[in-house]
Amino acid sequence: MNVLEAIHARRAVRDYLDRPVTEATVKSLLHAAVQAPSAMNRQPWRFAVVQDTVRLKVYSDLAKQLLLTNAALDPKTAHYREILTAPEFNIFYNASTLVVICAEQRGPYAEADAWLAAENLMLAACDASLATCCIGFAVGVLNTPAVRRELNVPAEGAAIAPIILGYPREIPQPVRREEPAILSWHR
Ligand SMILES: Cc1cc2nc3c(=O)[nH]c(=O)nc-3n(C[C@H](O)[C@H](O)[C@H](O)COP(=O)(O)O)c2cc1C
Repeated sequence: MNVLEAIHARRAVRDYLDRPVTEATVKSLLHAAVQAPSAMNRQPWRFAVVQDTVRLKVYSDLAKQLLLTNAALDPKTAHYREILTAPEFNIFYNASTLVVICAEQRGPYAEADAWLAAENLMLAACDASLATCCIGFAVGVLNTPAVRRELNVPAEGAAIAPIILGYPREIPQPVRREEPAILSWHR
C-alpha cells in the first residue's frame, strides 16, 4: 500500500475481532509513530499501551460516568447522553489494544506532535491490515490522577491521543468528505 492508498483506505473502525495484536506489531507501529514531524524536534511523545481488556472496560465505565457528568453541565454534549447510558456501550469498542500517545511536557506544540504521531501510527496500522479509531471520549478519564498513575503519564505532561487498535471485523464505508474549502489563494 502506498501512502495515498493508506490515506484513503484508513477508516475509524468500531467493530473488532477478538484477536490480540502482538508486541512486535505494536512496537513496529510505535516506530512508525515516532517518524512524525516534531516541533523543534523535541519528540515529546511517550506511549502507554493497554492490552488488558478488563482494565479497558473499567476505563470505559469511568469515562462514561465522567462524560455524563460533563454532558449534564454542557448542552453541546447533551446529545451523547443516549449512547453513554447504554450499559453495553464500550468507548473502546472491545478493541484488544489501546495506545495512549502522551506528551512528556505540556507546551504549545505538544498536542500537534502527539496527533501527528497518531496519524503515522494509524496509516502504518492500515498498511498492516489493522484498524484503528481515535477515542476522544477517553481523554478526560486518561488524565484523571488515578489513571495517570497507572499509565505512568509524565507529571508535567498529559495523555493526548488515545488510539484503539485491532483486527477489524468489518471496515465501514468511507465517510463523505467536503471538498477542501480554500479561503484565499494569493498569486
Ligand atoms: C480527535 C478525534 C477524536 C475522536 N473521538 C472519537 C470517539 O471518541 N469515538 C469514536 O467512535 N470516534 C471518534 N473519532 C473518530 C471520528 O468520528 C472519525 O474519524 C470521523 O467520523 C471520520 O471517519 P473516518 O475516520 O472513517 O474517515 C475521533 C476522531 C478524532 C480525530
